[in-house]
Amino acid sequence: MAILVTGGTGYIGSHTVVELLDSGYEVVIVDNFYNSKPEVLNRIQDITGKDFKFYEIDIRDQEALDKVFSENQIEAVIHFAGLKAVGESVEIPITYYHNNITGTLMLCEVMQKHGVKKIVFSSSATVYGMDNKPPYTEDMPTSATNPYGRTKLMIEEILKDIYVSDNSWGISILRYFNPIGAHASGKIGEDPNGIPNNLLPYITQVACGKREKLYVFGDDYDTNDGTGVRDYIHVVDLAQAHIKALEKILSNTGVEIYNLGTGVGYSVLDVINTFARVNQVEVPYVITDRRPGDVATSFADPSKAFKELGWKAAKNLEDMCRDSWNWQKNNPDGYSSE
Ligand code: NAD
Ligand code: UFG
Repeated sequence: MAILVTGGTGYIGSHTVVELLDSGYEVVIVDNFYNSKPEVLNRIQDITGKDFKFYEIDIRDQEALDKVFSENQIEAVIHFAGLKAVGESVEIPITYYHNNITGTLMLCEVMQKHGVKKIVFSSSATVYGMDNKPPYTEDMPTSATNPYGRTKLMIEEILKDIYVSDNSWGISILRYFNPIGAHASGKIGEDPNGIPNNLLPYITQVACGKREKLYVFGDDYDTNDGTGVRDYIHVVDLAQAHIKALEKILSNTGVEIYNLGTGVGYSVLDVINTFARVNQVEVPYVITDRRPGDVATSFADPSKAFKELGWKAAKNLEDMCRDSWNWQKNNPDGYSSE
């Protein structure tokens, strides 16, 4: 029996595949390399010393996906495949809705056909919208301010409806806060195309001289130092949470939502200062305008994941900053560095 990982060559997917292989699971990956590189497959092999199967397919290609289910004994699916850039989703909403929603519907249809009714889904803290007061709990009202966020909300609803229609499904919806860091080996990590949208990849590119300085988006928020506060979580902690969520659905039916964060918020300046201190590098920055759509503060109440999955983040901000830099230093051009 194998675990199918969609989007398994991406940032979070690749780290989760490593944890799955290290835990003794058989793994089948599908990815279309829209936002990842084939080299990651060698790196996963290198880290784990284990074999796994890979199919280069788009999850919307139902015939190809059907073949994957026919050729392998799939027990459960961890579904990462999706597009994730908020700004881009505003520019090309049809592409986002089609990729994320049609892709998920196609996947669920094939799963149903093959009697595979266990799925872990990557949702996002973005579904807490602009109006809730942190710490966010899973039962708070949800909303979205952009097409990307709406795809996550809609998929959550789709999965809940599937469970209502057939309660032999086991569904785990994971709302990630801000994943950063990289595997301790420095062999896999986040490898964004073009100018990074997110804070950590931007900082690492400034630190290694690829970009001149960081633009800090606003210092007039109602926070300790005026800059935005987020719940950063080490990607390896996040990956391990997927194993716990998987174990739970393998032996239970139902649909459950879990926040995955540390429960602690750090400001942009906290992150810059910690990164500079632990890595002994400079991170020049300037303060600029707020980025539209950003909330002042976002952090999780992660206690449900602890109570029901027995999972808790173990790594701190220093670990995250050290591991992000270790990956960037070893791979200045990401997976194209060779
Ligand atoms: P990523 O872009 O690194 O990984 C996604 C992978 O899916 C990529 O390898 C991409 O090539 C693949 N993919 C996309 N569309 C596909 C399709 N139609 N068919 C096959 N493969 C496809 O992103 P990530 O950071 O690893 O995120 C994984 C998931 O977690 C995404 O669903 C994302 O929305 C969600 N998420 C990410 C964050 C974050 O900050 N990184 C936060 C919350 C939620
Ligand atoms: N920031 C900067 N400069 C940058 C990039 C970010 O100051 O160049 C700041 C942001 O304003 C924010 C913090 O750093 O205060 C974190 O920003 P990120 O872009 O790294 O993360 P976000 O919390 O804004 O976005 C993340 C995911 C989105 C998701 C969103 C809401 O990347 O996919 O969380 O959950 F929608």
